[in-house]
Amino acid sequence: MADVPGLDMSLEDAMTTQRSVRRIRPDPVDDALVLRLIELAQKAPTQQNSQAWEFIVVKDPAVKAKLARQNRRMWRLYRPIAAWKARNDPKTQRMNAAVSWSVEHFEETPVFVVACIRGSRVAFPPIVAASTYGSIFPSIQNLLLGARAVGLGANLVTMPLWSNRAARRILGLPWSVTPVAMVPLGWPIGRYGPTTRRPVGDAVSLDRFGNRPWRGHPARSPRTPRLAFVDAADVPWTEVIAQQHGERRVSVHEKFLEWNARRMVVLGRYDPHVVIERHGHASDHLVYVVEGELTIGERRSGPGTLVVLEVGATFGPLVAGPEGALLFETWAGDPRPVPADKAEYHALLAARGIVRLPNPPFTKPATAPRQADDGKDLYS
Ligand SMILES: Cc1cc2nc3c(=O)[nH]c(=O)nc-3n(C[C@H](O)[C@H](O)[C@H](O)COP(=O)(O)O)c2cc1C
Repeated sequence: MADVPGLDMSLEDAMTTQRSVRRIRPDPVDDALVLRLIELAQKAPTQQNSQAWEFIVVKDPAVKAKLARQNRRMWRLYRPIAAWKARNDPKTQRMNAAVSWSVEHFEETPVFVVACIRGSRVAFPPIVAASTYGSIFPSIQNLLLGARAVGLGANLVTMPLWSNRAARRILGLPWSVTPVAMVPLGWPIGRYGPTTRRPVGDAVSLDRFGNRPWRGHPARSPRTPRLAFVDAADVPWTEVIAQQHGERRVSVHEKFLEWNARRMVVLGRYDPHVVIERHGHASDHLVYVVEGELTIGERRSGPGTLVVLEVGATFGPLVAGPEGALLFETWAGDPRPVPADKAEYHALLAARGIVRLPNPPFTKPATAPRQADDGKDLYS
């Protein structure tokens, strides 16, 4: 069992779903978690085992603001070029929009890790440059994979460090220590993976450059696509939310039909009149009303209603009808909720005389990814 929840994610799942997560929440990240991830980052190789790395963990708002200013300056210059390059490429346009978002919200990032190298900085011949930078980037990749496994949003960025002099001044670095790249870390609004990459056969030559015998033959994934049948009758109900309505305990129960790093599928049973706060989710979410009724905001949704909640959208508050509701729900990745209006929720509970009870503790199925906020009483 991993010492930090999530770190036992399979290597393949971590690698195939690790991507640049630029939209992150300002909520704090435990120092102990950041230190553990840096400790794992230090397991990376370095030239002659030099371990000449220095990691600056930045949490001071004044220092973050200065780095954010540098980032904005660079992006202001580079954005027109990036936009021009992406003029016929909607996917890169979406990435540029995410970069713009992260640049605008950069100082709200709870923590940055700035990876630096110690020693003289020689960029020539290429072998020296490769050995120098090659002794820090593997550790950054370890950090990104570790962040992915514990569910932290992360990305590798260099723009805020474009001026070495300014970066040194901001971080108080001596001339013997060079900042190379930084990783903003925080709990994600967006979601992880999958990433798109060129087919492996297009990037690999055999023996001599350009001899590409594997072109057009993508490597067969060693993972056999799964065909599975789950009988809801075999899955127990788990109480996940509880409230006190006068004498009655009123709950949400779920049957976890499928829960892994790729998706979650549940049957949800909402007791009559249960109230759920306005929220979104960290991945696309579908809700199908099988029985009963659910009022979502102003809209009453009866049997046969499909609710499509894309990542970033919010809905609610949700109030179950007098008969309760039976829902079939799916998430296309990380199912964690993103609360959108706690004040509205608490006001609604108060107006209805409902007392929120702590989330009942439960054990996730073994296939579900572990997250650092597991078991914390954060959502309802
Ligand atoms: C050396 C390097 C520098 C990067 N600098 C930035 C940066 O300054 N800002 C940013 O938002 N992303 C930056 N990135 C992230 C890339 O845009 C990202 O890795 C690439 O688009 C692939 O994204 P994906 O893994 O989500 O598919 C950098 C990546 C590398 C390897």
